[in-house]
Amino acid sequence: MSAQIINGKKTAEELEAVLKSDIAELPSAPGLAIIQVGDDEASTIYVRNKLKAAAAIGINAVLHKFSEDVSQKEIADLIITLNNNKNINGMIVQLPLPAHLNEEELLDLIAPKKDVDGFHPLNIGRLQNGSSKALLAATPKGILYLLEKEKIDLTGKNALIIGCSKIVGRPAGMLLLQHGCTVTFAHIHTQNLPQLVKTADIIIAACGCPQMVKAEWIKEGAVLIDVGINRINGKLCGDIEAAAAEKASFFTPVPGGVGPMTVAMLLQNTYEAYLKQNHK
Ligand code: GUN
Repeated sequence: MSAQIINGKKTAEELEAVLKSDIAELPSAPGLAIIQVGDDEASTIYVRNKLKAAAAIGINAVLHKFSEDVSQKEIADLIITLNNNKNINGMIVQLPLPAHLNEEELLDLIAPKKDVDGFHPLNIGRLQNGSSKALLAATPKGILYLLEKEKIDLTGKNALIIGCSKIVGRPAGMLLLQHGCTVTFAHIHTQNLPQLVKTADIIIAACGCPQMVKAEWIKEGAVLIDVGINRINGKLCGDIEAAAAEKASFFTPVPGGVGPMTVAMLLQNTYEAYLKQNHK
């Protein structure tokens, strides 16, 4: 079987072009605030990509960068200020945060209507309930967009989610459940991963373990969504062995698969938040 590559980079570029022309019609630029604490190398790259992509389509993105030893109160005060700033439509706190900060308390402070990462309990509850009012986490939203764009039938399919983070695994599983999949969550204590992979029609690998999912486990014709961005000897690789693609019907490459969609969906959430806040 010759597997089809799901080109997330191209899809993200197309989406961003549409967003750019939609934003050009607005009376003012949507505003996005990004809060970053410390100098985590991966976070700095992600934040740079978000700022650049936002600027390219007319979103006014502002970085609030703090040193590693910033206090909880300083960040909390900024979030409250941004909640009350009419020019800011979306806000994210780049994760991970240093251990001395209480992440849950800070994320809970973000006004749900500005929570363009979809991490606030209200948006997670809305997702759980299948409410169209939910702002959805960017990576799972991007994954669903790619699956739907490729017209991959989800109804009744066995979907295996590997990695249960609140950023990707949990919300992705919930979205697939709502689209008719039978969802299994695998995690660090899962004992029979090869067996679960062998029966999975759709695999979302988001565990951050380089090439953990082996090609020999993959069911013929499976759909492989690889969220991993790892390096082995300086070379980028995903959580799924590259050779697995030969057995798949569809697969996302690393890089150029899911990664660019995360940025595109963050921008789309910011645009949608702007429209809702301005009653458009
Ligand atoms: N860290 C890794 N991915 C993400 C993301 O999507 N949003 C935020 N805020 N932090 C992250």
